[in-house]
Amino acid sequence: MAVLGKQGLTFALLALFWSAAPLSASETPAESGRPPLNHVPSANCGECHQDIYLQWQGSMHAKSTALTDPIHGAVYRMEAGDPSEEGVTHKVTKSFPACLQCHAPIAARDKTTKLDAKPMYAEGVNCVACHTMTAFKGIQGEDGKLTLGASAYEYSKDSLIGPEGAFNGNKPVKAPGGDNEPKVNAFTHKANAPLFKSSDICLGCHQTMVNPQKLAVCTIGDLLLGKEVKETKVKGKEVKETRDIVAPTCQSCHMPVVNGFVSHEIAGGHDPEKVRKSVALSMFTTEGENKLKATIILKNTLLHTMPNSAPFRNLVLKVTALNDKGEVVWSNFKEDPDKEDPQSLMILKLVNNEGQPVMPPQATKVGGDTRLKPGEKRVLYYNVPPAGVKTVRAELYYNLITKPMKEKIGDKLPDELKTPALVGRAEAGL
Ligand code: HEC
Ligand code: HEC
Ligand code: HEC
Ligand code: HEC
Ligand code: HEC
Repeated sequence: MAVLGKQGLTFALLALFWSAAPLSASETPAESGRPPLNHVPSANCGECHQDIYLQWQGSMHAKSTALTDPIHGAVYRMEAGDPSEEGVTHKVTKSFPACLQCHAPIAARDKTTKLDAKPMYAEGVNCVACHTMTAFKGIQGEDGKLTLGASAYEYSKDSLIGPEGAFNGNKPVKAPGGDNEPKVNAFTHKANAPLFKSSDICLGCHQTMVNPQKLAVCTIGDLLLGKEVKETKVKGKEVKETRDIVAPTCQSCHMPVVNGFVSHEIAGGHDPEKVRKSVALSMFTTEGENKLKATIILKNTLLHTMPNSAPFRNLVLKVTALNDKGEVVWSNFKEDPDKEDPQSLMILKLVNNEGQPVMPPQATKVGGDTRLKPGEKRVLYYNVPPAGVKTVRAELYYNLITKPMKEKIGDKLPDELKTPALVGRAEAGL
């Protein structure tokens, strides 16, 4: 992450934004003639919360819109339209693009689709998108329709909301994630620990996402929602039993306290470091007469399905055998893991009525799910032709998008989004 010096940051803030002066506690936005709270750009918060601002700036939350995220941008243009135009509708539903409820929540709250009209629209999931939330209504609206993303919450118009509230009034205090200079916190803050310390603050956007056919194409999974679902057979009939369990909050893993304040890096699939924390890979080999068997064990250490959420995320296991010169003499696939070695590809397969693989918006059903279940231990076997083999190597890779998607939108994407990230590797010498 690029770190600006303190002076550089202050200069950038002054140069870029309308005012460096924070709102005073006695002024409501209307009285002061300043913008309403949900129009405060994040850089304004960053004047005091410098480290938090830089962490957020490096996160996908700050790059979630079609203007800033190349993958989302390419799909949004296909499904809806130009993110710099007003009045864009979703091509199938013909209504306001639901995408914006999660990917550009401030624009959605203002019911606009012109994301370059104001800096805070293009900021995506910014400080005030979260820190004005007062209550989570749930994603199931009364009329049976889903209320996703920004529309799943209630908001404060006059106070910033946080886990503890700022109860220091006008006394100079040190801002969490700020420098050592005491600052007077001029915004009104209110506390809402039950919301900010629970997964509810994330679930409006992260619980599920449906396509126009009402198929849930992205899900976070029951376990993290505090539900354990058991499928059993009673008199030959499938019965689902649901039990409430205590689940860790999203924050406990994604927002740890670092250097005395809550980290806002909130990393996932776009961060190769985070991805390495997901699956433990190990391998052993057994040799027999003219036989060489590699046993590979994948253990999902997460309560997430791995991969999860966006349905084009996938894991690929590459197994190679090397000779004494280090040359590859055998591999489990050459070009296409799906066709040559299906067990090596872990993905949610979305298909149409004919069972053909299609892009998520066109899918009508799930054609198969080979992803690793939460906590699952999966054992895979490979018979390796033993001639000349000195080493067997197993490598597990994570891809943000599938091979067909790379072919379709790859030319619009920078290389790092197309490069597989190494999750883990194991080697056995013979
Ligand atoms: C309910 C909230 C929600 C809605 C509505 C939503 N998304 Fe997303 N979207 C997400 C989340 C959360 C992620 C990140 C998931 C992950 O990292 O696996 C995401 C990720 C994506 C990605 C992958 C981005 C990347 O950088 O890899 C694409 C593409 C995408 N969404 C497209 C869309 C489109 C197009 C729409 C509208 C038709 C839409 N989304 C609607 C929540 C939503
Ligand atoms: C002038 C400096 C300043 C600015 C600008 C500022 N803050 Fe703060 N903020 C503080 C200080 C100082 C604290 C420490 C808490 C206190 O006052 O006791 C704080 C505390 C907080 C907290 C923690 C309170 C809690 O509930 O635990 C949150 C959340 C927060 N600020 C969010 C924001 C957001 C979002 C913005 C931009 C809209 C912002 N702040 C702008 C100085 C500032
Ligand atoms: C026990 C720790 C833990 C908890 C609890 C947790 N996560 Fe994660 N999460 C991770 C790790 C580690 C990764 C990195 C692996 C990855 O990218 O798939 C991750 C990945 C993700 C991703 C990217 C998915 C992908 O396949 O790329 C999203 C989105 C996400 N988490 C959201 C959430 C939300 C929302 C919650 C709460 C409902 C949550 N997580 C709870 C540890 C956790
Ligand atoms: C995705 C939602 C989200 C976004 C975006 C977000 N925050 Fe937070 N923030 C939280 C949550 C949740 C907590 C409380 C986490 C906890 O206590 O476990 C928090 C805590 C804080 C705190 C208190 C930190 C502490 O150590 O006590 C400050 C200050 C803060 N946020 C400022 C900001 C600023 C400034 C921005 C923008 C640069 C921002 N937040 C963006 C969700 C968000
Ligand atoms: C207003 C909607 C919204 C809220 C609230 C929200 N997110 Fe997100 N989140 C998104 C979207 C949209 C993306 C996808 C960004 C992209 O890739 O374009 C995302 C991406 C992520 C990712 C993947 C990052 C990566 O590196 O790929 C993680 C992890 C995550 N969010 C965790 C959280 C957690 C934890 C919370 C609660 C503290 C939270 N989110 C709250 C909308 C939201």
